[in-house]
Amino acid sequence: MAPSKSDDRVIIFDTTLRDAEQSPGASLTLRDKLEIGHQLARLRVDVIEAGFPISSNEDFEAVQRVGLEVEGPAICALARVVPRDIDRAGEALRDAPRPRIHTFVGTSEAHLARQMHKSGSEVLDMAVKAVTQARGYAEDVEFSPMDATRAEFSYLAEIVQAAIEAGASTINIPDTVGYTVPEQFADLIRRLRGEVPNIDRAVISVHCHDDLGMAVSNSLASLQAGARQVECTLNGLGERAGNASLEEVVMALKTRADYFGLRTEVVAREILSTSRLVSRLMGIAVAPNKAIVGANAFAHSSGIHQDGVLKSRDTFEIMDPTEVGWEATSIVLTARSGRHALRHRLEELGYELDAERLDEIYERFLELADKKKEVFDEDLMAIVEDEFREDEGGRFALEYLHTVSGTGTVPSATVRIRVDGEERVQQSAWGDGPVDATYEAINQVTNTRAKVEEYSIQAITGGSQAMGEVTVRVSDGDLKTTGRGTSTDIIEASARAYVDAINRLELRRGRQVRLDQKAPDRAH
Ligand code: KIV
Ligand code: ZN
Repeated sequence: MAPSKSDDRVIIFDTTLRDAEQSPGASLTLRDKLEIGHQLARLRVDVIEAGFPISSNEDFEAVQRVGLEVEGPAICALARVVPRDIDRAGEALRDAPRPRIHTFVGTSEAHLARQMHKSGSEVLDMAVKAVTQARGYAEDVEFSPMDATRAEFSYLAEIVQAAIEAGASTINIPDTVGYTVPEQFADLIRRLRGEVPNIDRAVISVHCHDDLGMAVSNSLASLQAGARQVECTLNGLGERAGNASLEEVVMALKTRADYFGLRTEVVAREILSTSRLVSRLMGIAVAPNKAIVGANAFAHSSGIHQDGVLKSRDTFEIMDPTEVGWEATSIVLTARSGRHALRHRLEELGYELDAERLDEIYERFLELADKKKEVFDEDLMAIVEDEFREDEGGRFALEYLHTVSGTGTVPSATVRIRVDGEERVQQSAWGDGPVDATYEAINQVTNTRAKVEEYSIQAITGGSQAMGEVTVRVSDGDLKTTGRGTSTDIIEASARAYVDAINRLELRRGRQVRLDQKAPDRAH
């Protein structure tokens, strides 16, 4: 049973399968519609408008199957105030346990005179007949005076009264062209409540389009004026600029319950998955900045904001992202991120770092962030692993690298390497290419003649500014080892990998020397 207008419960009427399916470029198969229908049931919307049966056999079948297979919500079929439309809607819903027929007709001067070429009384008569006919198929009948916000008020009140008299239990007031503004729309609802004598016998619904970006505001304003059903869609999809977005309406009511004093039955944590399903099946991407479900809706990028939410989430967040299905607040690491955000992310990745090490990694992080828009976890892990490797390796650390290469140029490289943590040695060399020249210069500084057995390079994250990871296998006599290095500069990554390999060779050589020295003792 629908709640009365004084109830604090708002009915959520989802029209993703009907109005959103009218979005340019969107079209769903029967299977898609069933999948979305089942998900809408998990989301616990109250009514699913499943289609417009007269419009095609596919729509008829979709309404029929959703009506039969999706349990929970009332399933609604759309129909013009035309007998064959109502029959088709009634047939599609024949075996549905909770059928609703939604019949509509244009009521503004533009629609009456210029589209339908009919008088107000003719249209009123058609509406009454349609509602009466629909009641023959379903107890639950909704009537929409289309383009209500541009209709003459006295005519609107008259047709609404007549539709209720004929048996409509929901009166939907559409802002079909997204023309109204919140205060004006709230006034319209108040006036209808005050001036239509039988209005208490119906639930007032609203259906707002977003042509001026006010669909959600208009819907919320109407609720304050006494409407108790909102027609909406996931991701705000719908004809032209779309409909009121379900997730925004629901979360506004939940987050600002202190203000609205209203509630819905929607299971908020299903919102994100429903939004993603709709986006995927309709092939319409969600804008990153879209409220609630956009990729950036809970992503903090500015250093001050990151510091704030890490100290206390409520500094810059009014909703808990997990409430609507996100895993957590996301801290986007960019050049604006501070040490606090970096340390937090590294801790989440399992790295506990002292202040000195954090400073070093922060420096490298900033270098990378200056080149890349966003630093991903894989980038960070590569930097940290690289730092640890350099640390473990010990003897040699690359401090400076400059290479020259190009067509018609002899490739050359200058490297400066810190040896044993103190001395800095610089060397230049030339080679077949910049990597070869770099390796030659490193050989000279480190006094090794290691042979490169294998060299490979891999992009760690996407894009042309991706971190490159170089793996190099080297041998020196019997000793073999592998070194790794990462950087957005692949020559630098190559140098780091080679220095890493040489450090490992040194370590092994040291161990070998110690074993050789111990051998005579063991022979005793
Ligand atoms: O926008 C509109 O007026 C509609 C009606 C069918 C309710 O979609
Ligand atoms: Zn619409």
